[in-house]
Amino acid sequence: MKTVYLETFGCQMNELDSELVRGHLESLGYRFAAEPDHADVLLFNTCSVREHAESKAYSRVGIVGKRKKAGEKLILGVLGCMAERDGVDMLRRYPQIDLLCGPGELDKLPMLIDNVVRTTAVNPPLANNIEDRVALAGNTSRRSAALSASADDLETLDLARAFDPDRATSGVRSAYVRITRGCNKFCTYCVVPYTRGAEVHRPPDSIVEECRRLAASGVIEVTLLGQTVNHYRYTHGVAVTLDGREQPQIGPGLSAFRNETIEDPNLTTFAKLLARIHDEVPELARIRFLTSYPKDFGDDVLQVMATRPRICRYLHVPVQSGSNRILKLMNRGYTVEEYLEFTDRVLEILPDASIAGDIIVGFPTETDEDFEMTKDLLRRVPFKNNFIFKYSPRPGTTAITRFEDDVPLEVKKLRNNELLVLQAEIGAAVHANWVGREVDVLVERLTNRTPVASSAPSVADPRITLGSRLTPKKTPHEDAAENAVQVSGRTPGDLITVFQVPTREQAQQLLGTIVRVRIEGSGPLILHGRMVDLTAALPNEIHP
Ligand code: 5AD
Ligand code: SF4
Repeated sequence: MKTVYLETFGCQMNELDSELVRGHLESLGYRFAAEPDHADVLLFNTCSVREHAESKAYSRVGIVGKRKKAGEKLILGVLGCMAERDGVDMLRRYPQIDLLCGPGELDKLPMLIDNVVRTTAVNPPLANNIEDRVALAGNTSRRSAALSASADDLETLDLARAFDPDRATSGVRSAYVRITRGCNKFCTYCVVPYTRGAEVHRPPDSIVEECRRLAASGVIEVTLLGQTVNHYRYTHGVAVTLDGREQPQIGPGLSAFRNETIEDPNLTTFAKLLARIHDEVPELARIRFLTSYPKDFGDDVLQVMATRPRICRYLHVPVQSGSNRILKLMNRGYTVEEYLEFTDRVLEILPDASIAGDIIVGFPTETDEDFEMTKDLLRRVPFKNNFIFKYSPRPGTTAITRFEDDVPLEVKKLRNNELLVLQAEIGAAVHANWVGREVDVLVERLTNRTPVASSAPSVADPRITLGSRLTPKKTPHEDAAENAVQVSGRTPGDLITVFQVPTREQAQQLLGTIVRVRIEGSGPLILHGRMVDLTAALPNEIHP
């Protein structure tokens, strides 16, 4: 059986896709290698959202090309959004690519690999048809609004998820759960609606069941994923198989987001879905969701968050620009005033909520005045962080055909840097607010940093006798400091928190658990603290 190396570029949706692909292939007997040199099937799960991720993937494709030219027998597959967008054209430009698989077709990947293996195993290789090694939604990517029950294969991969029984002991106790695929928004700069297709919502029962099974396998935190996650809604009794199973459902028009439909008992809104997961899967300590769209985010969701303690008060809700003129050109569908009305409403109902976002600088025609407005908006909202991107024109989008990319790269860079500095100030203030408070931290990793600067003994150290080969004797304090390790995790509001644990063994034991930490210091992107009660958090056998 072949050994696979799978590398992921881009967003959380891709990370989830890769996890599902890996589980699927493992269940069929494939092994996985951590390094590309130790595998004979190389798979790149790619992203088209920004140019940077694409260039990285192409450079990897180039390296594989060289290895194949040098005679190595490798299979190269390009998965995800780049495959979907560039299509078979990519096979012509890069003959080293053996197979292409779009993000909506990943359930067909084993068949594609199999086809390539079979046709190249013989000598000379059998000519294999392009159709046998390509699975793309192609021009059907915006599936018909009447997505029929029988035509649906969009959920296959999610439903086939492997529930790893080692989760509980592996320390990785967070998982992504897809609730919606695709996007109906068509922001002019964005390639997602073309590569991932129209919005399709999974049936709530499937989602709750997936959460339940993840919890049973040891997961304590789920992050629900959708491009515009708050657009989730599912009308019952519409798409049902003959045996009564509900099927994924195409998203309604944006006009559906009016409050009067919320009470409809046949409708599962995003708020109702959150409440169901919270109430029906009590083993989950944290329920989070990504990414929110600032419009169509009703008070019903905020109320569910306010009354359900295990739903994290964390919103990633990209604003993209602080200029109404630019927001309009981006087709974002809201004004700065509406965005602020939303964030004010969030902070009124959930005063300790964390808000994060994305911003694009240098969108076509963006002037200094537009940029100043973005800075004003940043000063107005307590963002814990903002991902800042320089606009890059993406093939296939409206913006690339409609607007000239007229903001020089130098200006984009300057604006990018200026926003980073401003965001660091805002982030520092947000984080400083937590100093003196106690938070729950889900421990995720050892940071590889010794928390106290280890005092390497110098020759001037009186304990070192010249010519002696003995290790200098350390004070008990130095001993403790040298053994101590720093761990890092996240609060329910997604604030990264680091603290010290006496030994590496104890740190390992804490991975994947939630501990109480008293915050003693902060920076623009980080909280520093001290564990409140180490003995209570550790299993009996390793109590210090
Ligand atoms: N150029 C720069 N940034 C982009 N994003 C999406 N498309 C582009 C583009 N063409 C950013 C947006 C989005 C995030 C995922 O990527 O800020 O929220
Ligand atoms: Fe892209 Fe806009 Fe959809 Fe987000 S909401 S995925 S930016 S089109």
